[in-house]
Amino acid sequence: MPRKILVTNALPYANGDIHLGHLVGYIQADIWVRFQRMRGHSVHYVCADDTHGTPVMLRAEKEGLTPEQLIERVHGEHLRDFTAFGVAFDNYHSTHSTENRFYAEDIYGKLKTGGLIDTRSIEQYYDPVKEMFLPDRFIKGECPKCGAADQYGDNCEACGAAYAPTELKDPYSAVSGAKPVLKTSEHYFFRLSDERAVAFLREWTRGTNAAGERRLQAEAANKMKEWLGEEGENKLSDWDISRDAPYFGFEIPGAPGKYFYVWLDAPIGYLASFRNLADKRAAAGEAIVVEDYTDAVRAATAGTEMVHFIGKDILYFHALFWPAMLKFAGYATPSQLCVNGFLTVDGAKMSKSRGTFITAHSYIAQKLNPEWLRYYFAGKSNGTMEDVDLNLDDMIAKVNSDLVGKFVNIASRCAGFIGKRFDGRLGEFDATFELDYKLKWHSAFKTIVLAYEGRDYGRALREIMHLADIANQYVNDHKPWELAKQEGQEARLHAVCSTALTMFRDLTCYLKPVLPALAAQVESFLAIPAIRWQEQWAPLPTGHTIQPYSHLMTRVERKQIDALLEANRESLAPAAAPAAKEAKDAKAASSQQRHAEKQQHAAQSAETAAAHISIDDFTKVELRIARIVNAEHVDGADKLIRLQLDIGETDEAGAAKPRQVFAGIKSAYDPASLVGRLTVMVANLAPRKMKFGMSEGMVLAASDAEGQTAGLFLLSPDAGATPGMRVK
Ligand code: MSP
Ligand code: ZN
Repeated sequence: MPRKILVTNALPYANGDIHLGHLVGYIQADIWVRFQRMRGHSVHYVCADDTHGTPVMLRAEKEGLTPEQLIERVHGEHLRDFTAFGVAFDNYHSTHSTENRFYAEDIYGKLKTGGLIDTRSIEQYYDPVKEMFLPDRFIKGECPKCGAADQYGDNCEACGAAYAPTELKDPYSAVSGAKPVLKTSEHYFFRLSDERAVAFLREWTRGTNAAGERRLQAEAANKMKEWLGEEGENKLSDWDISRDAPYFGFEIPGAPGKYFYVWLDAPIGYLASFRNLADKRAAAGEAIVVEDYTDAVRAATAGTEMVHFIGKDILYFHALFWPAMLKFAGYATPSQLCVNGFLTVDGAKMSKSRGTFITAHSYIAQKLNPEWLRYYFAGKSNGTMEDVDLNLDDMIAKVNSDLVGKFVNIASRCAGFIGKRFDGRLGEFDATFELDYKLKWHSAFKTIVLAYEGRDYGRALREIMHLADIANQYVNDHKPWELAKQEGQEARLHAVCSTALTMFRDLTCYLKPVLPALAAQVESFLAIPAIRWQEQWAPLPTGHTIQPYSHLMTRVERKQIDALLEANRESLAPAAAPAAKEAKDAKAASSQQRHAEKQQHAAQSAETAAAHISIDDFTKVELRIARIVNAEHVDGADKLIRLQLDIGETDEAGAAKPRQVFAGIKSAYDPASLVGRLTVMVANLAPRKMKFGMSEGMVLAASDAEGQTAGLFLLSPDAGATPGMRVK
């Protein structure tokens, strides 16, 4: 019986580029989908952009766009990147869509009717300058546990402690730099702590999919135990599903000014994308019955499955909130979660300064073959939640030895003879193969199928490469290059080369879920229809004409990888950072050129107008973003505050070395309120010896013509700027 499976991948946020870390999970899902289809199962494979929430709203503002404009652009970029890596969704939709609004309102409405929605007042940090409530990630301050500066409001990157934003010491808004204030507001909650939800989740955790595989991997099931507690215990808390305006999202029906929290409508985006797919297909005359997948009763009858591929950081949302929401709204619940670990590069977290924060687009722009990465990631996937390390030298070695040295080699050693000596026509299948190799060859089949099914692609590939060794051994044993030189060996030569190409076809079949583009090249070289799993057993027919062989895959060179790292490296020298970033852009040359032209133009016109300064004059002033790491009164000075400013400078030992600056802003600021905020400083002002010590720069503040009657206003950058960045 063919399975009917709806497969989804986590929806990437619409405020960032796709990077190689993302691709781990997308490639794993795509391989699984291709495998299932080759086996004759019916799969719908959907994804979308996750477009709502504060980060998207602020990012759009920073770029001078509306959120709609931003998400439209990013949608195109994301789809471009997935397509380039062969991740072939049937539909790539958006959570900012009519379908998603429909499902979000429907599910919410049903939960409300079911008595699972509550409201209550909560106190939360509010940015009085920006006039908005601040998500945890937009509040920074000193870690309450270890004292590390500039930590986010939810957890500390230095010591790993988790805490509430209100526990931070000296909190400041990462949006405006202002000191946040506590403010009360009414929020909507999904009552996850309801007994019904807890009982359901316990039951759901234990389930299996249609292939009898466990619904949750062992590590995920353990996490669930931890979250749910012992039988009879209830450790779940209700989930806050609303956010106050200003917010980019869907307004909650009947609750003006309140919006669904992004994580409420994000997974609903799976259903929205699927519905959108069904509508598109219906227009083309193909019927997909959405309710057979989404409605609890109908899905049970139809035997459909819904499988979510996600990364380990979002397990909580997918294993608790999401199934419970679906269940109590009468929707079908997920059949299975396939959770992937995180990517490290050369054993460490991806890093912009090392150039290992590699964007999908840069990989393509550097002309690296996406299937190299697919192959390497597949080899590193074992179906567990363990982290995946991209070891760059290992990737080069694996691709070159396995794909080029073993796999492609089989074809390149045999195809020439078929072309030159037999006019491209295949001969008889070698009878001796049956005796010597057949058993070994076919015994691998089952292992490979099971490995793919369980997403242990590493195991599948090891098995396939073992077969490639056998095929190479066969060629070595029969030495076509020697047969070709011997009298009367035409028939042997013909049979050996033809048999090797059948083996090559079989290997291509096994590799096809991982290497779809390479497989397509092989199909056209062998002049055969798209290979499916069942066709495995018949040899390529005698007399069949193949195409001339042309090279199927090139070797990876270390210098290509180095160039990739270079393209992604963001220089630590602050002044160079924007330039490096620009170089990443495919349009860099032209935009840099435009930039240079503009500069030149400005310089020329400056000579004719004496009242103006030239751009060169301006660039002499080195303005940099500075973090005020300390601020204090100066004894005996009634206007000055002593500031310690971090602009990313360090001493020889690598320790942070802030600049001391005396600023005449005492009338307007309490020193304590300044600590932690970002401002702009003149970094190349000649140091000046003052009565109280050296002043090594100047901070910038606005004031009226008289001086300070209207007050003094320190400048601060938009969110995202970091200490040391050049202002120009
Ligand atoms: N928008 C949410 C998901 C909503 S699903 C209803 C999100 N987006 S994300 O862009 O941050 O991540 C998308 C997927 O990529 C997630 O599955 C996430 O776990 C995965 N990864 C993001 N960075 C990753 C690595 N460095 N390594 C492996 N997977 C990573 O989360
Ligand atoms: Zn800490």
